[in-house]
Amino acid sequence: MQLRGLCNTLLLMTLASGAAFAQPARNQISYDAQTRVFRLDGGGITYAFGVNDLDEVQPLYWGAQLAKGDPLPAAHTNSGVASFDMPTSTTPQEFAGWGAGLYYEPALKITFPDGNRDLVLHYVSHHIDGDSLTLVLKDVERDVFVTLHYEIDPSTGILGRSAEIENRTRQPLTIMQAAAATWALPQGTDYSLYYLTGRWAGEDHVQHEAVHPGARVLESRRGSTGHQNNPWFAIERGSTGNEETGDVWFGALAWSGSWRITVEQDALNQVRVTGGYNPFDFSYRLAPGEKLVSPVFYGGFTQHGVGGASRLLHRFELTKILPQAPHPRPRPVLYNSWEATGFDVNEAGQEALAEKAASIGVERFVMDDGWFGQRKDDHAGLGDWYVNPQKFPHGLKPLIDKVHSLGMDFGLWVEPEMVNPDSDLYRKHPDWVLNFPGRPRTQGRNQLVLNLARQDVRDYVYGFLDKLLNENDIAFLKWDYNRNWSEPGWPAAGAEDEQQVYVKYTQNLYSILQELRAKHPGLEIESCSGGGGRVDLGILRYTDEVWPSDNTDPFDRLSIQDGFTYAYTPGVMMAWVTDSPNWVNNRTTSVEYRFLSSMQGSLGVGANLNKWQPEDFATAKQLIGEYKEIRETVQHGRLYRLISPQQDSEHSVTESVAQNGSQAVVFALLHSSQFGYPFPSIFLHGLDPGAQYRIHWISSQPDGAAARMMAAPLPETASGAYWMNHGIALSLRGDFQAAAFRLDKVGAP
Ligand code: DGJ
Repeated sequence: MQLRGLCNTLLLMTLASGAAFAQPARNQISYDAQTRVFRLDGGGITYAFGVNDLDEVQPLYWGAQLAKGDPLPAAHTNSGVASFDMPTSTTPQEFAGWGAGLYYEPALKITFPDGNRDLVLHYVSHHIDGDSLTLVLKDVERDVFVTLHYEIDPSTGILGRSAEIENRTRQPLTIMQAAAATWALPQGTDYSLYYLTGRWAGEDHVQHEAVHPGARVLESRRGSTGHQNNPWFAIERGSTGNEETGDVWFGALAWSGSWRITVEQDALNQVRVTGGYNPFDFSYRLAPGEKLVSPVFYGGFTQHGVGGASRLLHRFELTKILPQAPHPRPRPVLYNSWEATGFDVNEAGQEALAEKAASIGVERFVMDDGWFGQRKDDHAGLGDWYVNPQKFPHGLKPLIDKVHSLGMDFGLWVEPEMVNPDSDLYRKHPDWVLNFPGRPRTQGRNQLVLNLARQDVRDYVYGFLDKLLNENDIAFLKWDYNRNWSEPGWPAAGAEDEQQVYVKYTQNLYSILQELRAKHPGLEIESCSGGGGRVDLGILRYTDEVWPSDNTDPFDRLSIQDGFTYAYTPGVMMAWVTDSPNWVNNRTTSVEYRFLSSMQGSLGVGANLNKWQPEDFATAKQLIGEYKEIRETVQHGRLYRLISPQQDSEHSVTESVAQNGSQAVVFALLHSSQFGYPFPSIFLHGLDPGAQYRIHWISSQPDGAAARMMAAPLPETASGAYWMNHGIALSLRGDFQAAAFRLDKVGAP
């Protein structure tokens, strides 16, 4: 009795602290040999599939956790309703080979040397090991084996799925199409899809539309993730657009090369999502004995709307994906020189900026493009990774020492995968780039793409980076990638294997990052691709943060940041305060507005500090100090998107709640007030209703006087119930106004 009382108390304490990610008592994967049903439970979800009478592997359930012992009837073939509907197509499959009359998106399509293109995969065996399950399938006739991997995260219920395709025949075969997984939703027509679209300097627009019969294809054919679509989806039951309630299935593909996610509603109203390598221009020859391992496609479910889906993904990324998971170090406040100096970097200029950056509390100083080779602008130098002797006559050491003496660590920009035709490297190795012999080589930003799939190129890139890191005390690399592929040929591989470039390039990129991190354990890396062109769960295994956009306008950034957080944690979302008017759109905003926009992510400063006035330094110093008090909450907390800036909204409000419930942070920004309408009341989420919270205004004045005036009279301290239900009225008026505050739980450590 006493023990049960204690358990109840602990449970109540857990609920009260708002710890939404408490470990479930039990996580399990089970197999019922009688019904041939597999069931995976964890993080409040159940996922089940079975082996049917034809030995096909058939999805049965994916959703909120079922009770222990709930019946899950055996899988059975749906023999179709018409001669036009083959059972292969009317029976949903976990991982369908293209064969026997399959009309929807296959997970795997193979061409054999004898011209046979029929592949029908049946269950062979399985193995359960803790939180993971492997399932072996085989073609009904040929020795093609597919091993499906499932791993469930006990905390979030997010499942990782991937496939390993093995050729055990005596002949080579060619994979024409390979997915990581197909996800099946309950049959129905009442679904809507969220996805992210964009372009350079305009990333992460949230699209929300009904799922219709037919297919919606999200993809990149560009060789890398791309700004245009992001490999993430969420599907809501219904079309409420409600952030906090409703059933939502979501997923993200961990791959930084060309990819495709197909969302289909078939003729029997089966909705399924298939994702993996983009089959466009794809082929992968497997010699006898060889394997191809797909990327991992992660999927999850929540009953707490698309906001709940984001929070699960954020938690998963922080605790399972990032290189420093499960406890990533909070991002330091950084300064980056790019918008201040462009390519015009030198020792004296960088040192002067470093001194100013240190004076406002910056913790990491990053020198951007321009320090190497014969780099004066973007026409030359990429590929020649020696320190430019005119700009840095004594190497990088004096600058790095200076940065260290100011109490900051040092970071450096690199773009390792690219080469300018005007470089020593290209003059020596013109065959190292992606190309089709005899064809023009299309340049983007005056550069070509080094073919990282080649072993010699891979070794060169690893070698110069390793040397750079051995010779200099560098804590951080900003790893840039400023164009997409063209003429994706790999002549040296031979015609039959050239298209393996779509797999091997990205695998080698990952292996370089992994090896560098292993050799230089303190090193942190940012993934940048002209802004947000390479943001996905694949690159995030090897990089600590990403650059969401080259667009640093603080108002445009609000919607980019909002869209970004549908899929990715603010803990990796770098956001700089830069100059005003902004170079993108000539918009003028105050220093405070810019800070309160950027402080919603991982804060950086990218302004030309040489032009700042004393009051700008004072504002920056004050707000960076405030940021350090809230960054754990902003970067690693639970995000609630209270008012979305999307769709030309005038308002934007976000709230982050610390994982331990001790603090909540709110940012409210106004575009321009029209007709004197008041700013909408703000109702907080995720607080402990019975606890007391004290308000603290985050503003450029130490006592927050100006910010306080923006609000109707408010109590200094009130209960969580008050802040969540009574709401907060801000009197933000005018153009580009902003306010922020934090609520500290009274008595919390
Ligand atoms: C593109 C990046 O996104 C910018 O931040 C900057 O690093 C430039 N490249 C440098 O060439």
